[in-house]
Amino acid sequence: MSADLPVSRRSAVPPFLVMDVVVEARRLEAAGRDIVHLEIGEPGGGPPALARQAAVRTLDGAGGDLGYAPAMGLPDLRRRIASHYQDWYGVTVDPARIAVTSGASGGFVLAFLAAFDAGARVVVTDPSYPCYRNVMAALGIEPVRITTGPADGFQPTPAELDAVPGRIDGLILQSPANPTGTMLDDTRLAALAEWARLRGVRLIVDEIYQGITYEVPSTTVLKVEPQAVVVNSFSKFWAMTGWRVGWLVLPENMVRPVERLAQNMFISTSTISQTAAKAAMDAEAELRPRVDHYRHNRDLLKSMLHAVGLQRIAPPDGAFYLWVDVRPTGLPATTLAGRLLHDAHVAVTPGVDFDPVEGEHWIRLSFAGPTERVAIGAERLAAALAPMLR
Ligand SMILES: Cc1ncc(COP(=O)(O)O)c(C=O)c1O
Repeated sequence: MSADLPVSRRSAVPPFLVMDVVVEARRLEAAGRDIVHLEIGEPGGGPPALARQAAVRTLDGAGGDLGYAPAMGLPDLRRRIASHYQDWYGVTVDPARIAVTSGASGGFVLAFLAAFDAGARVVVTDPSYPCYRNVMAALGIEPVRITTGPADGFQPTPAELDAVPGRIDGLILQSPANPTGTMLDDTRLAALAEWARLRGVRLIVDEIYQGITYEVPSTTVLKVEPQAVVVNSFSKFWAMTGWRVGWLVLPENMVRPVERLAQNMFISTSTISQTAAKAAMDAEAELRPRVDHYRHNRDLLKSMLHAVGLQRIAPPDGAFYLWVDVRPTGLPATTLAGRLLHDAHVAVTPGVDFDPVEGEHWIRLSFAGPTERVAIGAERLAAALAPMLR
């Protein structure tokens, strides 16, 4: 077949730039450099012991039985996820409304396809997780980007949404958020949910960083809006990134559409990963202390940044990121990130991934890694940044 046959226009989505930083960092490591990784949001520590043991037990006991799971997920796991909402939030969720997906990422594709037709207009905030707008664009859904700022914790307000011109079909929110770490409390969630309900706008909330919060416990939009679509995953609090298990909580009228799409697109989520994920939900005693470890890392990096004079940081109330205004350095974020990687051997993410407009003023630091490495990173950053800020 000719190499010159065209590829689709819909595949021309931007790359996830943080992955380019990772590649360059790995190249430097291969050349013998010691690089501190503050660029990726990958929790250290690996899956909890209960999850690993469940996977081993499943393998030992399964014989040839590790076949396809039902498209909506193993019934045991769906029930366990439903009881998780009862345990953490006192919210009753029917297991029938839960779809197990290949990570939150698989959940986005299913939720967007089930909720929106091609041409739909869905509000996404800047800054936010870039895959929302890129996946939407690939699916023919128009992401309508609105700018948020420090005054409202980088989260939208109903007034800002009212100011968006034209029809709106959907709104995607996240709490705690990536890259800012900011959160929406029940009052703000309720106001945004009401805004969406009154205008017939489909509300989707990415709650993947639930459980990783430092100031107040996490909440769920389901407390204030049972009709919202919730996206979640075992990748962050449960530290199971590579196992690729996430879930959706769906309003009733989206259950069967998501099931049909999942049957056709994925058949099922990895069966062994689902058995491990179910066990992980009983591992809070092992996982909670990891949040204290993230908090320690956060405080360490934050005090370094304050000391060198980078004091404009989004309130990192949850997740494991600092969103830092680097304007005082006088350098665009991409140039600064390049220098920090090559000269200080610290990998950070330039903000353009998360905000194509304002992102050159911001970098994202991830503090999910081991404290020893974060501490070395902080020292190196302080040494590299201090001369720029004099
Ligand atoms: C906000 C947000 N949503 C979704 C994802 C994707 O998660 P998953 O590994 O479950 O696909 C990430 C990954 O970093 C994220 O930060």
